[in-house]
Formats: sequence, structure tokens, C-alpha cells
Amino acid sequence: KARLAILLSGRGSNMLALLEATKTGVLQGLAEVVVVFSNKPDAPGLTFAAEQGCPVASLPSQGRKREIFDAEAAALLQQYQPDLVVLAGYMRILSPAFIQPFAGRIINIHPADTHQHQGLHAYEWAFDNQLLETKITVHLVDEGLDTGPILAQQTVDLRGADTLAEVERRGLAVEHELYAEALRGLIMNYKL
Ligand code: GAR
Repeated sequence: KARLAILLSGRGSNMLALLEATKTGVLQGLAEVVVVFSNKPDAPGLTFAAEQGCPVASLPSQGRKREIFDAEAAALLQQYQPDLVVLAGYMRILSPAFIQPFAGRIINIHPADTHQHQGLHAYEWAFDNQLLETKITVHLVDEGLDTGPILAQQTVDLRGADTLAEVERRGLAVEHELYAEALRGLIMNYKL
């Protein structure tokens, strides 16, 4: 089974969807979550992961120099020997100190088309621009901000979505399906 390390900074709804997929969904028998890690020790997602019986770890990033924190986080994660590092609302830009040990094995989900919008607040961007549709993107992480090769994309229909909450609700429903499917494809391709 592919060993997944899931990284988050907040709520953890994508983490929970992936965990569920490994237990009873499209990742069953293919992947296991070996650790859920956060740069925010009080992230709600960490609590949810622990409640599900998942190993959890955290290291506070606040006030730390990026390269030093990233090297420590990478060293901590390496103890779990992950095949894939899966970013799920991990709200940090990763420096080479983090990327190099896991090069080509870090995956991210971004709630927009990464060619159209990078960085934070992608649902606000879609809502403010009154887009009729947006895209969810799963991509490999390289050293740029949301620039890595795209693994999977899915359109979200936003017609009639007249509040930001509704835009997010529709988007997250797509995220929760697409992330597990994209990881399944990657794992099967690489026979992890
Ligand atoms: C998700 O919408 C995810 O795509 C987004 O943060 C949210 C985390 O929610 N990620 C980014 O914006 C990365 N640039 P969650 O904690 O409930 O999974």
C-alpha cells in the first residue's frame, strides 16, 4: 500500500475525505494514511484525524525561519517513510529544504485552475468575478506557487451560486471526490 502523509493547516475536510477513501472508498487496499501533520498545533483537522485513530504530528511554524522550519518538518515526516506527501489545505509556500527530500512526490489540491489563479482565496476570486464555472486542480508540487504539472482537473458548475458559502460548498464536494480519484490514478500508474 502507498504510504500517505497528509499535511494540513486548518479544518481538514479533504484529509477526512481521503482517510475515508482509504478505509471504504476508491483508495481502499491501495493507500494508507501513515501520519497527519500540521504546522498549526491547534488545527481542527489534527483533532479530527486523532479522533479517527490516525497518527498525528505537529510542529509550530509561527515565528520560524522558513528554511529551518521546512528542514525540520521534512526530517520529521521522513521518519514515517511516506511514498506521497499530500497537501490538504497546508497553507504554506514550500522551500527547497522541504521539496528536495520528496521531489516529485508532493501533491497539492488547489480550488481553482492553477493557470488562472494561484495562491490563497480562490473561491473568493471565483465568487467576486461571478464566474459561471471554476475548476479544481490536483497537481504535483514544484518550487513555484501552484505551478507544478497538473494530474487532474474537474469543473465546478457555479451557475446560480449566489453566495460565497454556496461556491465553497459546491467546490469542496468536487475536491473531496477528485483528490482521492487523482491519488488512485497516480498510485496505480506508479505501482506504489
Ligand atoms: C481547500 O479548499 C483546499 O483546496 C484549499 O484550502 C481548503 C482547505 O480545506 N487549499 C488552498 O487554497 C491551497 N492554496 P480543508 O482543510 O477543509 O481540506
